[in-house]
Amino acid sequence: MVSLGGRSSGPPPRPVWAPAGLDLDRPNAARVYDYYLGGAHNFAADRAMAREAIADWPDLPLIMQANRAFLRRAVRFVVRSGISQLLDLGSGIPTVGNVHEVAEAENQDARVVYVDRDPVAVTHGQALLSGNANATIIQSDLRDPGSTLALATATGLIDLSEPIAVLLVAVLHFVPDTDDPASIIDRYRQAMAPGSCLVICHASPDQQPRRAATHQELYSRTSTPMTMRSREAVAALLAGFGLVEPGLVLMAQWRPEDESGLPRNAQRFPGYAAVASRL
Ligand SMILES: C[S@@+](CC[C@H](N)C(=O)[O-])C[C@H]1O[C@@H](n2cnc3c(N)ncnc32)[C@H](O)[C@@H]1O
Repeated sequence: MVSLGGRSSGPPPRPVWAPAGLDLDRPNAARVYDYYLGGAHNFAADRAMAREAIADWPDLPLIMQANRAFLRRAVRFVVRSGISQLLDLGSGIPTVGNVHEVAEAENQDARVVYVDRDPVAVTHGQALLSGNANATIIQSDLRDPGSTLALATATGLIDLSEPIAVLLVAVLHFVPDTDDPASIIDRYRQAMAPGSCLVICHASPDQQPRRAATHQELYSRTSTPMTMRSREAVAALLAGFGLVEPGLVLMAQWRPEDESGLPRNAQRFPGYAAVASRL
């Protein structure tokens, strides 16, 4: 069938950058998040779900920006503390203010290994990082710490005998309780040298339970269901780590700076954040 405009009807053409074998019809966390942040690496199904979510919770794009702002502050903090290697688990699709850019601005020798299981994130990460000797991205599932750490060290950028910052930012809520996130984190903790630290930001229903329930219901339709957790449950994931001041707080309350231009009401940005050092 041909439309009046002379163009063929039916589904839009598959973008050339879409990796083969990808299911474009099912929304996916990496690409929905990309849409919230104003990126271009998302498909119609991701946009439809994101718009539905925003209709119920208009602050969602701002919440994602607040998460990115926390990530940048935490990376600056750990690199200024003397850590020069970072492992970013669930790094997402490359976007403005990437971890390696923030880290390299503080220490030009800082090294970053990004990890994501989403092929779109990995394909774009590889393109963005080509020619960068100090940063790379690997495809792996963080729920398999042994294989993820083996792949990360095989890049030659990470030395586990030295302090490292392991980043778990806006990703652990995609690990259900049935996968035992506490034991996954503990496996990483055991591999981290003394002086290492963990950076965490985790979605929570505590501030806006009704919206959080709707949001989780929406994500249950995706290839990446979501488990938001209470402050108490997030704190329990950090066994074996000591919290750096100000502790486990709402993301906008973690060492705020004036850089984000975001509203100042921290309660609008539900989700707990911390930097914690390995004990
Ligand atoms: C909401 S994005 C967060 C991206 C980035 N960390 C940030 O805070 O801006 C979550 C990312 O985690 C990835 N992800 C989810 N579960 C994962 C897993 N088990 N292993 C690796 N990556 C995962 C998704 O593909 C997505 O890119």
